Amino acid sequence: MKCVLGIAITLAVLGVGALLFAWSGIYNIAATKPHWGITHSFMEMLRDRSISVHSDDIGTTDSDDAKLMEAAFIHYHEMCRLCHGAPDYQPEEFAKGLYPPPPSMISGHVQEERSQAEIYWIVNHGIKMTGMPAFGPTHSDSELYGLVALTMEIPQRSPEEYRRQVQKMSSEGGGGHGHGSEPPAHGETEQEHH
Ligand code: HEC
Repeated sequence: MKCVLGIAITLAVLGVGALLFAWSGIYNIAATKPHWGITHSFMEMLRDRSISVHSDDIGTTDSDDAKLMEAAFIHYHEMCRLCHGAPDYQPEEFAKGLYPPPPSMISGHVQEERSQAEIYWIVNHGIKMTGMPAFGPTHSDSELYGLVALTMEIPQRSPEEYRRQVQKMSSEGGGGHGHGSEPPAHGETEQEHH
């Protein structure tokens, strides 16, 4: 009985301590101030285990649907590239100020370390408290599968091939990052400025 009471008091003190710590504002939440090593390791474990467990029952298929892959390319170039880069394209300036930093998609490390199911889950749901957005709310399942298939391939694309596809995309009037038959969202249409 004494032992249970002791544990309860310790937990209560720890809880109040944590509340006081948060309320005091001592903690520096700046993106320019990296986590301590131990916090970083804890966050990585939290993220990796969560992704692994939540993506466990996702099935994946290889996409050889040319139309889907073309659409995925537009999506990748218009969105993912800005943070993760692409062959011959550096991430945008703002992405260099994100913490945690978006990993490169051209080095091949992400594709080696994560399964397709995990990448699908990440792209679908995003990752809390990082700059990684959830694309599930704005993209269909097949668009997401296309994106995953393309992400797996990105490290094998040569800069020439990638550039050629960007040129093809712009010459076909693509690049507007449309979603099938949806009308363009406000602001995506070209407007004349006088
Ligand atoms: C606004 C910036 C931003 C955009 C846009 C973005 N990401 Fe991310 N992404 C991140 C950040 C930041 C992380 C790192 C999160 C972390 O370290 O936990 C990340 C992580 C990931 C990961 C996990 C990487 C790993 O370490 O295993 C994958 C996969 C991924 N993004 C794919 C994509 C794809 C595909 C797109 C486009 C549909 C995309 N991201 C768009 C910022 C972005």
